Amino acid sequence: MTFCQRFCLVSMLLIQGFNGLQWTSETQTQSVMQACAGDTITFPWFFTLKDREQLEVIRWLYAPPGSDAPVLMADMVSGTFMAVPLYAGRFSYLDKASVDLSQVTLGDSGNYTMVVSIHNGDAFSSIHHTVSVTVTVPSSSGESLTVMQADQAVYDSAGNLHVQLVCGQLTSRGQPPVDVIWTTPTGTEMASSNYENGSFHLLLDTPVKGGNYSCRLPPRSPSTLCLPGNDSLLEEAAVEVDAVNARLTLLEAKEQELREQNRNLTAENHRLKDDILTLQNSDGTSLMHVTFQAGLARNRNVNTTGPLKFNVVMLNEGGAYNPTTGEFTAPINGSYFFILTTSPYATGQSNDVHIVVDGSSIVRIHNSYHSHSNNNMATAHVAVCLAEGQKVWLMNAGDMYYSSALSHFTGFLLHPDC
Ligand SMILES: *[C@@H]1O[C@H](CO)[C@@H](O)[C@H](O)[C@H]1NC(C)=O
Ligand SMILES: *[C@@H]1O[C@H](CO)[C@@H](O)[C@H](O)[C@H]1NC(C)=O
Ligand SMILES: *[C@@H]1O[C@H](CO)[C@@H](O)[C@H](O)[C@H]1NC(C)=O
Ligand SMILES: *[C@@H]1O[C@H](CO)[C@@H](O)[C@H](O)[C@H]1NC(C)=O
Ligand SMILES: *[C@@H]1O[C@H](CO)[C@@H](O)[C@H](O)[C@H]1NC(C)=O
Ligand SMILES: *[C@@H]1O[C@H](CO)[C@@H](O)[C@H](O)[C@H]1NC(C)=O
Ligand SMILES: *[C@@H]1O[C@H](CO)[C@@H](O)[C@H](O)[C@H]1NC(C)=O
Repeated sequence: MTFCQRFCLVSMLLIQGFNGLQWTSETQTQSVMQACAGDTITFPWFFTLKDREQLEVIRWLYAPPGSDAPVLMADMVSGTFMAVPLYAGRFSYLDKASVDLSQVTLGDSGNYTMVVSIHNGDAFSSIHHTVSVTVTVPSSSGESLTVMQADQAVYDSAGNLHVQLVCGQLTSRGQPPVDVIWTTPTGTEMASSNYENGSFHLLLDTPVKGGNYSCRLPPRSPSTLCLPGNDSLLEEAAVEVDAVNARLTLLEAKEQELREQNRNLTAENHRLKDDILTLQNSDGTSLMHVTFQAGLARNRNVNTTGPLKFNVVMLNEGGAYNPTTGEFTAPINGSYFFILTTSPYATGQSNDVHIVVDGSSIVRIHNSYHSHSNNNMATAHVAVCLAEGQKVWLMNAGDMYYSSALSHFTGFLLHPDC
């Protein structure tokens, strides 16, 4: 067969609808490939023929970027593979339609197409596959790996402390999904525990085994393969871990954790103490005692509008009543009960007094003394919800008289919260 008989037939082949010829490799569906100058590219093109189908010819074509005129690289007729002179020695046949292209250069970027032509009786058909290949020249990363032991232990997701090694810093290459490979002092290879901020981390098992740990780029990853052979990033980085020092790191972290736990417990303890103050007994009465009872040292004429101060304290549980100011200050949120009883002490006298809660008059007593046989005592009650810090006091209204024997002011906490 002349060269033209072999190669010029391509365009004469009929392409018809046809259900035979099955592709059997998944990789051949890949349509884009990256390669570094110097690499060998494998095109894994496998297929099987059905009964009565016969292989006519396989052709491999190449189109440089921007061109739509593919040129022939090689073909296979009757089991004989032949590459055109330009590709002789670089383009080799593997199996079925699979081929290798070795020693690729930038000029090999472009589309590679494989056409399998078969016939089935009178019917001819062909199937083709194209892969777009980009070849890049290895460039120096200008980077190198460093590895160190982190100063502080870290927690894993289960809450256990570990000594951590940090391998980095990778800014231009080695970002996920490319991992670094760790080698432990026993020679075991390990993957990183996690990646963060340009660095790969390895959490060491406890107890930490001392010795040299190293990290390096995975030798077969595309990131690695695309580096020049003398790139400093290809060198592994090692750190010597001292088992005793690692134990100290863990102990320090443990101690810090205990200190924090202690702080938390102290805070919790304070909270509980506060809670107890406001707790109730099962019958609803308060565990906190707030009760006062106050009277007057002697009969009093109070001739100003302002606080009426019951200055003799008979009981003051919880210390909420201040006899100097005459004010009761709620120590906690709660409902409180107050009773005021007054009487003047001589005929013709009267008194007029308000119970003031948080600045507002809530109830008022107005009471006159007619005669010894017809003297008046008056009582006012207040049940009120007070927030912690709110005040209750008595406001005398004008020129009033108060009997020390017959006037009293009492108050107590009914229950916390309201
Ligand atoms: C190469 O193939 C890709 C798809 O695989 C296509 O988008 C592109 O146009 C092709 N380029 C040439 C030069 O044929
Ligand atoms: C990330 O790494 C850089 C360089 O080592 C550092 O300056 C920066 O603080 C790190 N950021 C975080 C969030 O760890
Ligand atoms: C760790 O590596 C350093 C330097 O490479 C070496 O001097 C040292 O002996 C090694 N340590 C162990 C425990 O292998
Ligand atoms: C690495 O090798 C290339 C050529 O192979 C050379 O040009 C370059 O200077 C070398 N770089 C180093 C850091 O040795
Ligand atoms: C201490 O309390 C804080 C806040 O509640 C919590 O986040 C932390 O985990 C606690 N620490 C310990 C050691 O229990
Ligand atoms: C009010 O009482 C005080 C003594 O309690 C007395 O000194 C003062 O004169 C009285 N003022 C009036 C206006 O009655
Ligand atoms: C007391 O009551 C006030 C207002 O009703 C509320 O803001 C505050 O949180 C309460 N304090 C407590 C300790 O329950």
